[in-house]
Amino acid sequence: MILRENVPIKDLTTMRLGGPTTFVFDVESEDEARGAFTFAEEKSLPVFVLGSGANTIGRDNGFKGVIIRNKIKGIEPVNPDDLENSELLDSLSALPADTILYKAYGGETWDDFVRAVSVEGFTGVEALAAIPGTVGAAPVQNIGAYGQEAAGSIFAVDVYDSVADDYKTLFAEECDFSYRHSIFNSEQKGRYFIIAVYFKLRKGEIESELYASLQDYLDKNNITSREPAKIVEAVTAVRNSKLPDPETIASSGSFFKNIYLDDAEAERVEKLGVPVRRPGNKINTGWLVENCGLKGQDLNGFKICDTAALVLINDHAEAYADLEKARGAIMDAVKDKFGLTLEQEPEEIPEEGINA
Ligand code: EPU
Repeated sequence: MILRENVPIKDLTTMRLGGPTTFVFDVESEDEARGAFTFAEEKSLPVFVLGSGANTIGRDNGFKGVIIRNKIKGIEPVNPDDLENSELLDSLSALPADTILYKAYGGETWDDFVRAVSVEGFTGVEALAAIPGTVGAAPVQNIGAYGQEAAGSIFAVDVYDSVADDYKTLFAEECDFSYRHSIFNSEQKGRYFIIAVYFKLRKGEIESELYASLQDYLDKNNITSREPAKIVEAVTAVRNSKLPDPETIASSGSFFKNIYLDDAEAERVEKLGVPVRRPGNKINTGWLVENCGLKGQDLNGFKICDTAALVLINDHAEAYADLEKARGAIMDAVKDKFGLTLEQEPEEIPEEGINA
């Protein structure tokens, strides 16, 4: 376990904003995680859990509290005979015979996990290749891309429950997954520390129709196979051609969520020329930002990525106020032109822990 004091949040997050946190713990086991929570409680400080910081934004006044970074590693197929948790074992027997359970620990790099299982020929997460972040962050916002969502293959999640000071296993049904949503980023935010995630995967290939951009790539490269490793390769190439790597270009993935409308609103915006994807009345926010003429623009030290309008790049901004102005300008433009309200995707360090 590593404990450091007064570490700038800008050094812990890919958007590279934010003042110091009082403490930061890097924990490598579930007991260390529990120890870090106990430490915070003894000091009456709030806790904020961070993975690789690819989807979290700090404020100028930092965090008067304890940031816990999940560094618990390991990726392994689960042998049902080794399972000590009888509840897990019972539910496992209800899965189809060709399904295998993989356990990945929260501090693993998400893409390493995707590659490890995809090269073995398992389908379920291959379209989520090259998404920045950790395994532990995947269930929190139910990451998704190219028609797949983490929730589609998550079977259960091992957590440390900081309220009960105990370990438990939450089944997917208990996690209340929906688009970029789970109990971990809503009702129970801050309560659970994700130790490991169990994924149900099967040998085979994606069955649904592929997203156009992915199919285009396969066609252009004469790839007819849909085996998981090939999809990983295609997704990685498509993403790399559009999305900046947050490790080298300060940013935090899609900055706004896509929007789902009711029928009346969908009809209204359609008359304005906005493409509506059905079923679900999904609006691609990237399209809205692009069609406000904002692609490539500079806004208070931030830049709207010229290959993916949903990505906001921190070009040379230092202050959170700059982000507020840039975000406000984009939201106002979209509101004025289309009457739609954008919602930010990355999380922010909570206000109550901020140094006043
Ligand atoms: N579009 C534009 N201009 C843009 C970007 C998108 O017009 O600059 C329109 C196009 O019509 C395009 C459609 O939006 O066909 C979809 O674009 P894309 O496939 O690039 O995906 P997205 O909707 O912008 C979502 C996720 C991404 C995920 C991709 C791929 C959200 C908020 N974002 O973006 O996730 O990788 O789909 O499936 O749902 C992330 O969450 O950090 C993230 C990168």
